[in-house]
Amino acid sequence: MIEEEELVGNGSLDQQTELAIANPDRFTGIATLVYAVEDLPLCHRFLSDWGVIETESNSRGSIWETPIGQKIFLRQYDGDSGVPGLQEIIWGVGDLAALGEIAEDLGKDLELSLDSDGTIHTKDPNGFGVGFSAFTPKEIQSQPQPVNSPGRRERVGEPGTNCKRATPLRLGHVVFQTPFVEAAEKFYRDRLGFWLTDRYPGKAAFLRCAARSDHHNIAFFRTNVTEPHFEHAAFEVCDIHEVFGGGLYIKDKGWQTQFGPGRHATSCAYFWYFQNPCGGNIEYFADNDFADETWSPRDIPPSPTSIAEWGMFDGISRFSGKTKAWIRPLER
Ligand SMILES: [Fe+2]
Repeated sequence: MIEEEELVGNGSLDQQTELAIANPDRFTGIATLVYAVEDLPLCHRFLSDWGVIETESNSRGSIWETPIGQKIFLRQYDGDSGVPGLQEIIWGVGDLAALGEIAEDLGKDLELSLDSDGTIHTKDPNGFGVGFSAFTPKEIQSQPQPVNSPGRRERVGEPGTNCKRATPLRLGHVVFQTPFVEAAEKFYRDRLGFWLTDRYPGKAAFLRCAARSDHHNIAFFRTNVTEPHFEHAAFEVCDIHEVFGGGLYIKDKGWQTQFGPGRHATSCAYFWYFQNPCGGNIEYFADNDFADETWSPRDIPPSPTSIAEWGMFDGISRFSGKTKAWIRPLER
């Protein structure tokens, strides 16, 4: 169990870079994920089950979209370079002036390529493809099921609903495993102005792309890997019921649970991870911590209970009707 005093932050603004403080809303979130996949039909079937919407498709690939307009590009892996799986994360930038500033700074020592629409492509210190493009998320209003608790009745005069499957509303974060956590943290904070939310000292860094944002939009974990690799992409759903209902639907479709359902101890989100045929793993999450300028970054001792309060290793199942018999002894 994590002791309370271990969770006390060390101040917030004084741990952020001048670049972050001067540009608190430079980034608008993840704009695009690019995957190169070996089995396009399999990946199409998976993303369709996952609940994102296909907007374009041909024999070489397809484009999928979340309700706020983020895109997922699938293209046929051609075997020419790199390995199949996630190829690039493109971060949304609020305006073209900020995009120009990023290009000017990164161009001093990194190899950049530019698209005609201004999108910038480069590599981060771990060798992962990273890009930047102008992107303004569409505003949406989610409708979580109102919650009833003693003294606070929010759902009155109407029944609750069961969730049959998930419709993820947005792509919230990506996570990598790497031996080079510090280098990654330094790049995203010092060169881009990301905000530090929490650390497992020496083991992990949780960063967000704006002052007001999810607990993390990108995180790096040092595990027993020798080569950096992509771990997962996470999609936010409306509420905990959709994590369970969506996960059950994906499981019923024959896809494999990686971990979950469960609840994170750091970020406090409910989660369910699945193996993603497009690359790495993929997560439904709900009720994540949300930070702003007042969040105090914490040094949290790394331990299993720092990662998850509880978690199932192989999913849960729909109720089959079977229960343990309960036989009350006859009273005489
Ligand atoms: Fe996650």
